[in-house]
Amino acid sequence: MYKKIERNAPCWCGSGKKYKSCHEAFDDKIIKYEMQGIRVPDRSLLKTAKDIEGIKKSAVINMACLDAVAEQIHAGMSTQEIDDIIYETTTKMGGIPADLGYEGFPKSVCTSINDEVCHGIPSEDIILQDGDIINVDCSTILDGYFSDSSRMFCIGNVSPEKKRLVDVTKECLEEGLKKVIPWTRIGDMGYAVHQHALKNGYTVVKEIGGHGCGNEFHEDPFVSYVTKPNTGMLMVPGMVFTIEPMVNMGTDEIFVDEENDWTVYTADGKPSAQWEVEVLVTETGYELLSW
Ligand code: MF3
Ligand code: CO
Repeated sequence: MYKKIERNAPCWCGSGKKYKSCHEAFDDKIIKYEMQGIRVPDRSLLKTAKDIEGIKKSAVINMACLDAVAEQIHAGMSTQEIDDIIYETTTKMGGIPADLGYEGFPKSVCTSINDEVCHGIPSEDIILQDGDIINVDCSTILDGYFSDSSRMFCIGNVSPEKKRLVDVTKECLEEGLKKVIPWTRIGDMGYAVHQHALKNGYTVVKEIGGHGCGNEFHEDPFVSYVTKPNTGMLMVPGMVFTIEPMVNMGTDEIFVDEENDWTVYTADGKPSAQWEVEVLVTETGYELLSW
């Protein structure tokens, strides 16, 4: 249950103002939704101005990593070389690759090619081929703040079918972003993503999705795209989460690599694409923090 604090006490947001002249009305609004049975974010999920500043600094590194990959990626390169770029860029800028050692993940970034849905492990033995599509998913820690984004790259001459998957997946993300509206529900966002994929003959992975992010790597809520409108957590200004749909050309069924226990593949071997952004819910809409 969402709890108010004493009216003259300093506000929980760290503004230094009294609660009654800061977040009291905001809390009343949240409580009103909660009383209607709508899931609302815990206060711990609402970022303070200081948190947002920290996340943005972390995101500068996160995006610099992906920019560096964008400049250097080419056919004939190993995915280990991508890992090296991420590690070097992150650490030179004072950050830590969030993936490295996360639940035992052995590398600094995920590199997922063609039918790999996500969590591909960089390797010297994996060489980018002309016609590949690859997702590079980078997560960064700076001063305890987390940023997380991923992009697709097309290597050389990519077939029109695969190029379309990459483009439509980006459009799915953009459709979702249009629905990041404060005081509406996150299921509306997911629904918009899913509908755009279905309309284009694609499917969306249901088991893996986005997440709250910023003060931890993975926070609540789980951000699904296989949702119905008017369901899920209320989007409240100050929330930060990722939108990162995995869109498949064929079946939405997936399986996990038995040997490394990480890499996720499409069950039918058809390609999958993913773009990821980290977004802040604002009073009027959203602000992209990392992309
Ligand atoms: N970056 C992924 C995400 O978007 C998480 C990767 S965890 C790892 O949430 F361990 F595989 F790196
Ligand atoms: Co993520």
